[in-house]
Amino acid sequence: MKEIIAKNYSIFFNNDGYDSLSGYLKTCNYSKIFIHLDTNTNKKCLSVLLNKIKISHFETIISRDGENNKNIESCINLWEKLSVLGADRKSLIINLGGGVVGDIGGFIASTFKRGIDYINIPTTLLSMVDASIGGKTGIDLGVLKNQIGSFYDPKMVIIDSIYLKTLHKSEIYSGYAEIFKHSLISGQQLFNNLCSELNSNIIYNDQVIKQSIEIKNNIVLIDQKENKERKALNFGHTLGHAIESFLLKSEKRLLHGEAIGIGIVLASYISHKLFDFPLTSLNLIKDHIHSKYKKVNFSITEITEIIGLLKHDKKNNHGKINFILLKKIGVPVYDVQVENKIIIDSFDYYNK
Ligand SMILES: NC(=O)c1ccc[n+]([C@@H]2O[C@H](COP(=O)([O-])OP(=O)(O)OC[C@H]3O[C@@H](n4cnc5c(N)ncnc54)[C@H](O)[C@@H]3O)[C@@H](O)[C@H]2O)c1
Repeated sequence: MKEIIAKNYSIFFNNDGYDSLSGYLKTCNYSKIFIHLDTNTNKKCLSVLLNKIKISHFETIISRDGENNKNIESCINLWEKLSVLGADRKSLIINLGGGVVGDIGGFIASTFKRGIDYINIPTTLLSMVDASIGGKTGIDLGVLKNQIGSFYDPKMVIIDSIYLKTLHKSEIYSGYAEIFKHSLISGQQLFNNLCSELNSNIIYNDQVIKQSIEIKNNIVLIDQKENKERKALNFGHTLGHAIESFLLKSEKRLLHGEAIGIGIVLASYISHKLFDFPLTSLNLIKDHIHSKYKKVNFSITEITEIIGLLKHDKKNNHGKINFILLKKIGVPVYDVQVENKIIIDSFDYYNK
């Protein structure tokens, strides 16, 4: 599969990726190589990587897995490990893990000694199609997601769906939400493809992964710093993130993609109300999301609290909450302010 060219790096697929990495490591002559893993990818993915490529000298640095650990404590722990293990400015970090490993690892790379090189080898579907691409790094602040971070490109990304063999099914579905979102903001073809009955059992294949990455990469190439076009990637995320944050400490806790799936339905409903987003597409989206994810019921008290969390959304400016909506599939509208009443109605539509 041919590589995808991103702004300052390339995204390689399967064995081409490992060949490119071998060549790259020979030319770059890094003083030290650190493989950053979490507790699960240390067990499940490191041996897969080492079967694919010989890396003669490396150290592992390990974070605890899960969103709860995407915080400053994990960073301090990793900065200290790097320091103790003698990392210098010519050191390289290879992130082998999901979006949490990539986001933390990218962030510590961007800040350690004012910035060292890193490479992403994503091991979840979500990180393959989304988190590992586009150079955003970061950590959460309490329950508020991605409040601290940087734009800092990797030197290379390697996509190999072999890692998905050990990934829990619910995590695969979580990643699918971003593939589906990419289809909604890019154009009818992928959307029709994903929604067709023929493909109703397909969550991913190498072709869909590549298509999805291309959609994200093309947007980032136009607007890396999220001044306008990149905001489209937040479709479904304004309410999705608020729902994810709200449920973080509850027993109804959702995976990122599960929350985004709900956010997509809510944003599509609001799009329908404000921009005549076609009702047929809206209903198709809701049915599609319900066919993939379990339904969550929200009480009015919960909805009010979720709306309260929107004030922390990173897209806000001048105290205004900005939504990304759609006029139709593939046609985003940026920075729309939405009344609370319509947001509450969107939950009613989802709950029905
Ligand atoms: N930087 C960006 O542009 C961007 C974009 C989207 C999402 N994100 C972030 O990505 C994060 C979510 O990423 P995620 O869904 O990959 O979650 P994750 O990194 O928490 O991984 C999910 C779980 O799967 C485990 N795991 C990972 N790979 C495995 C494998 N191959 N086999 C078995 N277990 C494996 C992990 O240890 C973890 O327990 C969120 O923090 C989100 O904010 C970042």
